[in-house]
Amino acid sequence: MGSDVFIEVKGLKQQFGEHQVLRGVDAVIRRAETVVLLGASGGGKSVLIKHFNGLLKPVAGSVKVEGIELNCLGERELNVSRRKIGMMFQNGALFDSFTVFENIAFPLREMGEKDEAVIEQKVQEALDIVQLSNHGQKMPSELSGGMRKRVALARAVVHRPECVLYDEPHAGLDPITADQIDHLMKDLQAKWKITNVVITHEIRSAFRIADRILFLKEGLLYWEGSVTELKASKDPILSDFIAGNSSRSWESRSA
Ligand SMILES: Nc1ncnc2c1ncn2[C@@H]1O[C@H](COP(=O)(O)OP(=O)(O)OP(=O)(O)O)[C@@H](O)[C@H]1O
Ligand SMILES: [Mg+2]
Repeated sequence: MGSDVFIEVKGLKQQFGEHQVLRGVDAVIRRAETVVLLGASGGGKSVLIKHFNGLLKPVAGSVKVEGIELNCLGERELNVSRRKIGMMFQNGALFDSFTVFENIAFPLREMGEKDEAVIEQKVQEALDIVQLSNHGQKMPSELSGGMRKRVALARAVVHRPECVLYDEPHAGLDPITADQIDHLMKDLQAKWKITNVVITHEIRSAFRIADRILFLKEGLLYWEGSVTELKASKDPILSDFIAGNSSRSWESRSA
């Protein structure tokens, strides 16, 4: 141990039927860094991160968490590894019939925590972090979209994972609320040394939070580097993506 590598992916391939989604991804996520995953819709970003906590099993290649190959683990050992990694799903996925408190308590109960005082204290701490201290008894339907995202974030971190995977935490948020989410993610990184893996289409946020950017294209890691390097890149694929520029496809269509 002692390595600063938290997740290591080698030659990762995934396909659904005939559709090859990941075609041999090599990537490393380091401990306590914020990595932002960029790339066009459908490029395999969500599929990639679902391998990090064993929700998907590779067709080929390997995924190691803290040096341990997930493919070699049985269900029980995999659960131990999963506890190190929290996940905020693309659509938030709150249970609508549970209060905010019970939504956040859910992972703790699922992991076998029985002590109500411990649950109460951890849920309250998570609520405080996302600045929803007095909203525990509300139902999800009473919350705004931004508040629901923050509840989803609290649920992803309530058990103090070492790493959190965020699938589009900014989607549907106004710039100010997106900014709050960015601050929360960076606070968690600073306070609890959490490793953040963030998929986002918000370039502004990506630039603000990323220690490193991985750019996925057509099932492969196309580019990686810092924000400064990305901004300076002359690669038209990268600069068009940043600018939200689809002129290439229009040019080729009208040609
Ligand atoms: N469970 C599944 N079964 C079949 N196909 C799937 C499954 N999950 C993902 N796919 C396909 O894999 C491809 C990549 O999907 P993925 O969700 O990883 O894209 P993405 O890069 O996250 O896109 P977006 O930015 O739109 O969220 C898509 O073509 C999708 O239809
Ligand atoms: Mg996705």
